[in-house]
Amino acid sequence: MADGVERVLSGEVSQFDERFEQSLRPQFLHQYIGQEKVKDNLSIFIEAAKGRSESLDHVLLYGPPGLGKTTLATVIANEMDVNVRMTSGPAIERAGDLAAVVSSLEPGDVLFIDEIHRLNRAIEEVLYPAMEDFCLDIIVGTGPSARSIRLDLPPFTLIGATTRAGSLSAPLRDRFGVPLRLEYYDVNPLTEIVIRSAGLFDVEIDEQAAGEIARRSRGTPRIANRLLRRVRDFAQVKGNGQITAGIAAEALELLQVDSHGLDYIDHKLLTGMIERFRGGPVGIDTIAASIGEESVTIEDVYEPYLLQIGFLQRTPRGRIATRMAYEHFGYNYPEE
Ligand code: ADE
Repeated sequence: MADGVERVLSGEVSQFDERFEQSLRPQFLHQYIGQEKVKDNLSIFIEAAKGRSESLDHVLLYGPPGLGKTTLATVIANEMDVNVRMTSGPAIERAGDLAAVVSSLEPGDVLFIDEIHRLNRAIEEVLYPAMEDFCLDIIVGTGPSARSIRLDLPPFTLIGATTRAGSLSAPLRDRFGVPLRLEYYDVNPLTEIVIRSAGLFDVEIDEQAAGEIARRSRGTPRIANRLLRRVRDFAQVKGNGQITAGIAAEALELLQVDSHGLDYIDHKLLTGMIERFRGGPVGIDTIAASIGEESVTIEDVYEPYLLQIGFLQRTPRGRIATRMAYEHFGYNYPEE
């Protein structure tokens, strides 16, 4: 984390978010706000699978962090009325770890693998027959006495989540019958989410205040809920606990989150490009070095939103700060 400070606008989950997210998480599709296309698709596939008394086809959820991939996995399991087992790519170190998890599943259960792009290739190979034929080929013993035994598994649904669908191997990607891309949320659904969360926290909030929080949350519910908690603190200490538009604006000012939801890291990244590299094109590694972050963190966490709002462009020669970025930070755009 740059400067050792927890970034209030990071889409990535922190241990504090986790506790709160649990209490805010929608349990069923009708409670899940936004991602209409994803919900429309899912509700049909779920109804069809239930109608045939089959397990749901394997689902791949991809998109930037904080958009609700884990939440959606829980919702899918609840809608299918099955259990969900949660693990992650890096947690499965050996084939035996995978075997232990899948052999504990009951028919129809959901196995959720977060960060599935970080699964090692040897384990992917074990996963293929598990996904396709619901069986595991396990090598027991070593040397000349080694042999392969086949374990039958109950039919189950694998839900894989990743921030980088491009890093998944093609054979793994192809084995998901239902690939679903989560998009950044528009301000309206995000406002609804803030109002819903405030209701669950039992704090009063007016619609304008919720909208202000939503606008500065980079299209990301996890960030909206985090900002809501900070604004709630502010309202409690500086006001009477009620979140009004005035209180929200003051609190967000204090948090140094600007009107587009950009924070000091975004500022540093973009103004650095403008001042030191004449707006680019500049390579991702150079940008990373100049702000003291890793290239993959920039690619996965900071850059997607800046691309989405048109402040940054990706070209074969490197990244370019756009006219909108220049104008947002008060620089004159160099006309060629
Ligand atoms: N909390 C976080 N994400 C949500 C969503 N998509 N719908 C409702 N509540 C949420």
